This record gives sequence, structure tokens and C-alpha cells, in this order.
Amino acid sequence: MNKSDALHTRALRVLPNGSTRSAVWFEPYPFYAASGAGSRLQDVDGRDFLDLTNNLGVLIHGHAHPDVVQAVQHQAAAGSCFALPTPGEIELAELLCERVEAFERVRFINTGSEAVALAIKAARAHTGRHKIVKLEGVYHGNYDFAEISNYSAPDNWGNEPQSVAVLPGTPPGVLDAVLVTQANDVDMLQRLMAAHGGEVAAVLVDPVPPRTGMQPLQPDYVTALRDITRAHGSLLIYDEVIAFRFGYGGAQGRFGGDPDLTALGKIIGGGYPVGAVAGRAEVMEATASSVSSSGTFTANPVTMAAGLASMRALDHAAFADLDSMGERLRNACGEIINKLGANMQVCGTGSIFSVYFHQRPVSDYRSYFKTPEEVAATTAFHRAMLDKGVLIAPTATVFLSTAVTPADEAQLLDAFEFAIAQAC
Ligand SMILES: Cc1ncc(COP(=O)(O)O)c(C=O)c1O
Repeated sequence: MNKSDALHTRALRVLPNGSTRSAVWFEPYPFYAASGAGSRLQDVDGRDFLDLTNNLGVLIHGHAHPDVVQAVQHQAAAGSCFALPTPGEIELAELLCERVEAFERVRFINTGSEAVALAIKAARAHTGRHKIVKLEGVYHGNYDFAEISNYSAPDNWGNEPQSVAVLPGTPPGVLDAVLVTQANDVDMLQRLMAAHGGEVAAVLVDPVPPRTGMQPLQPDYVTALRDITRAHGSLLIYDEVIAFRFGYGGAQGRFGGDPDLTALGKIIGGGYPVGAVAGRAEVMEATASSVSSSGTFTANPVTMAAGLASMRALDHAAFADLDSMGERLRNACGEIINKLGANMQVCGTGSIFSVYFHQRPVSDYRSYFKTPEEVAATTAFHRAMLDKGVLIAPTATVFLSTAVTPADEAQLLDAFEFAIAQAC
């Protein structure tokens, strides 16, 4: 029995299913991480992996970036948390506001899920309304209201999207308070808002939703989102917890859009737990007094130091490099697919891509939804990539980092070709 197997057996005695984080669990048991440096990760059995999960999009510079390590060591030695504010929270908020036009005020929190929850509460308080609109199948973390219809399936999704509970026992009030629509369908949004707009506090979208093809929302949809929400007095919330990695000014800086509030997380904490809501002063100032947002660890000084170091290293050139690496690898994967005549495709934007085991166009959750055969191929592909020493997300998704080298790119492409043979 190797060390990961033994650890998993131990974990089964104290953690349900032997895991405390379902998104990173895989059959028969996940490998346990020992350390990471740059693009590489070592597990407890001494195996070396090219890490292209980067903790599901967090580590945009890979593991243990020297500037981040130095900043964290310095802050840890100076004290890890205080019941007082620290200058770091101002500096990180200033950096974010300098980069994005729609950010005039920022409130920190500890995770992306909490950021989405805080943005929704702020929108409710600002408008005095209780409903939100969200896109079918689009993930926003684990706040009850935001997770409605995350995993809708053909047997429950209806002709037009409807509120589908993720868990049994979800209060009817939660289902009633969430209206669900389809990504990129302007008419459907218009109809929904014509019927319910007066009760809608906010429309919540991810501007580059992973489960609708990992493409930016279509430009006419982006325009419609702003016009329609404004016409009905509702706020527009962008969830850029992942999408902030698409540009120096986030996804909204690159693909347009003018949200009232934006939920942030992942990269802005430099590898430490973080979330934030950023937005127009008018909305943020008004809600700051009415929406209680505190939290024992909010704006933790270590997180603020790590986030600042990481974001400062993420300049225009770093984004350009990440984009061209993503483009180069997507093209190279496409050439391999063509060469092998495999029924699959690679979809993505900037520094992220995902492998789909079909060639149908994907523009919303229903066209994305995987058949059992596609799920099985995804699992086999993930396993085969691991066998070749490449760690990707179990959904066959790759998150690139600035630490990826040309040799890493070659390893990825070699593993990709091998894994197709195992999966198809
Ligand atoms: C788009 C999006 N929103 C929100 C979240 C929740 O963030 P966290 O896991 O930090 O709670 C995630 C997490 O992956 C996400 O991808």
C-alpha cells in the first residue's frame, strides 16, 4: 500500500467519504500533496507532477512564488491576525480599484462563496427586493440561493429553466427567490424580467461561465444584461471569482460589461483564503451601513500580503504571456485531435481550457451537459493524464500559470495525445 492509499484509509475513519473537499476527490482515492514549487507538485509517495490545477485557478504564479513566500513570512512573523484593520487591506483594495473602472470600493471576505453571498445580500438591501436571477448550471459556490440549478439535468430542468434544488430539504423560500434563465438567450431574459423584474434585486452571472463552453458571454447578451437590469431597477452582479484571471482589468475589462457589483476570490489572495465584493461607491457605501459584513478572519493580514505580492507580479506582460500560452496549447491540442480523428474538442479562454468528448457547439448549460459516455471518457482521460504525471482538474480542465515552462508544455501535449487513446 502506498502512502496516499494509507492516508486515505485513515481519512475514511474521520472524514466523510475520506475527503473534506468533493471537487478534488477522484477514484479510487486522491493522491496526497507533500509540496509544490512553480509548476511542479510532489505527492507524499515522492512522485512528481506537472500541476495544471493550480488549486482550481488560484495559483496564477504556480506554487510558492518567491515574492509571495517572502511577503507571507514577513507578515506571519509580524502577527497573523488582529482585531484591528491593517494597511494591507487598503493597499490591496487600491490595487484592485486602480485596475478596474467599476471598482470604487471593496469589502473583503474569506471565500468566493461568501463574496457571492455578500453581493446578493447587498443587492437585496440596496433594492429592498428579495429575488435573484441566475443562469442555469452556472456555479457560484455554496450559498443556498446561488447554488440553485447548479446541477439541473434533463429529467428535472423542464422546457424553460426552472429553480431546481441541489439538496433535498432546500427551503421552498429559497427556490421561490431564485429565477433561472439560459446563458446567451436575450429573449428569455427579457421575458423573465418583464414578468418578475419588479421583484428582482439582481441578475447574477459569471461573464465566462465554465459550464457553458468556457467562452465569454456573447456581446449582445452582455449589452442586454446591463440594459434590462437597469430598465427594471435591478443590480447586475458579475461573479469573477475565476474570471478575474482573464485580464489586467478582469473579464469585464477585457470583454466589456458594466456590473454594479463584482464578486472576487481565488487569484486576489495569492494562494490564501480570500473573497471580496467590489463595486460602485454609490451601491457599496449605501450597503456597507446596512449589510453587516465582519468575519473573524476577514482581510486577514497574511492573505492581504500574499494577494498584494501575487497581484503586483501580475502585470500586463504576464497576462499577455498567459493568453498566448493558452492559445498556443489549445491550437496544439486541436492539431492532435485532428491528427487522431478523435470526436472531441478543446474549449477555453485565456489561461483556462477544458476537454469535451464531443464536437457539438456549446453555448449554454444544456448544450454543455455531459452524457454518461462523455462523463466516463472525461474520467478515463483524467486518470490517463495522472498516469503521465500531469495533474488536471477531474472535469478535464487545465488552469495555466506563469510558472509553466516550454518543457511543461511539451509534457502536457505528450500526455494529452496518450490520454486520448485511453479515453476514446
Ligand atoms: C465562479 C465561482 N464562483 C464562486 C466560487 C466559490 O469560491 P470558493 O470556493 O472560494 O468559495 C467558485 C469556486 O470555484 C467559482 O468558480
